[in-house]
Amino acid sequence: MLPLAEAVVANVPVPLIVLDEHRRVTAVNTSFLKHFQLDERQMLGATLHDAADGLWNIDEVDELLRACQRDRGDQEHEVERLFGPLGRRTLVVNARSLEIPGGPSGWVLLAVEDVTEKRRAEEVLRGEREALLIRVKRHEDELARAQASLNTEVIAHNLTRGQLLHANRLSTVGKLTAGLTHEMGTPINVITARGQMILRGQSQGEQMIEDVRVMVEQAQRVTQIVRELLDYSRQRPSSRPVDDLSALCERTLELLRPMARRGKVDLLLEPSTNTLGCAADAGEVQQVLTNLVVNAVDALDRGGTVRVRVATRQATPPGSQGALCWVVMSVSDDGPGIPPHTLGRVFEPFFTTKAPGKGTGLGLSVSGAIVKKLGGWIDVENLDGGGTRFSVHLPQKGE
Ligand SMILES: Nc1ncnc2c1ncn2[C@@H]1O[C@H](COP(=O)(O)OP(=O)(O)O)[C@@H](O)[C@H]1O
Ligand SMILES: [Mg+2]
Repeated sequence: MLPLAEAVVANVPVPLIVLDEHRRVTAVNTSFLKHFQLDERQMLGATLHDAADGLWNIDEVDELLRACQRDRGDQEHEVERLFGPLGRRTLVVNARSLEIPGGPSGWVLLAVEDVTEKRRAEEVLRGEREALLIRVKRHEDELARAQASLNTEVIAHNLTRGQLLHANRLSTVGKLTAGLTHEMGTPINVITARGQMILRGQSQGEQMIEDVRVMVEQAQRVTQIVRELLDYSRQRPSSRPVDDLSALCERTLELLRPMARRGKVDLLLEPSTNTLGCAADAGEVQQVLTNLVVNAVDALDRGGTVRVRVATRQATPPGSQGALCWVVMSVSDDGPGIPPHTLGRVFEPFFTTKAPGKGTGLGLSVSGAIVKKLGGWIDVENLDGGGTRFSVHLPQKGE
């Protein structure tokens, strides 16, 4: 090589090797030797493949050199491997065909860049970027939660004005009426039939008195159904305290049974051991129970069973500490359950999975707000055997 070229190779701060046409090391610079902790004697004269006890016996590098000699071009490759005492390194190896005018052909200049630290830094940066993205995502989630709870606050606020409460009641009344109209058919048929018998003179004396008694009884049944429905749809809360929650549940289920029967759903009230009252307005508790049962019946589109249970339980309100005794009214069904990704959203105002016209998405948000106003909360969970359970926690009476 020209003395000037040799001097350049020797002093350039990049690790360099010059190989002849047989890929033997003809020159190696200080930077290379220092970087790989080698002695010149371990390198010079040997093929790169055999030099330094096979430290550079790397298939990809051999292949790179051959390609460079064949194509007389510029080739680059990144290799990662163990380099003796240096440990695992990542190197970018660049092979460049050395064109020396009037000199030998097939010579190659090999430049090596150790990018281990650079790659590690990139890795760390990538990790940090991902961590950052996760944090941004977490903030987004928090924002969405805040938005949802703000919506709940808005609902709670409107609730005090009574409008949403009423809207929710009316939408339920629609569902109930369909069932109740059917329910009234039977007593009305009985009244008509007995009345006609009396008019035709087919019923007289003792029999006539018995027929009239049945007619009055059936008329009272119709009146009761209508009164219950009106009672339920009335705008103002009743302000009646709940002395016996089980009895209130039974009365409410009575109102709901015709609708449930149409959907082939059984409504069961599990008997409770003692009489439990709660510090809540009867009309409001009835509205909450109605919303939960209507939802359960809706979920059981092929029929099934809805169980209502009243009990006391030690529980800790969300976001606070210390367990207290609560009156819990739970409604469970053996339906399909709620998909995990929507479980956290069912109390959001206007969240519904039902077809337009079938759902308003108000039932649970209104129920949640009513119970919150009473000082309690509602839990929801999917049951192991399928189905869903809503547990309404109400403060005990006198607390
Ligand atoms: N028992 C249940 N089983 C399955 N999904 C339910 C149940 N109760 C509520 N949901 C889900 O919660 C959503 C919100 O209920 P809700 O607020 O009452 O509104 P709506 O009944 O008008 O859809 C329902 O659309 C449904 O997806
Ligand atoms: Mg509903």
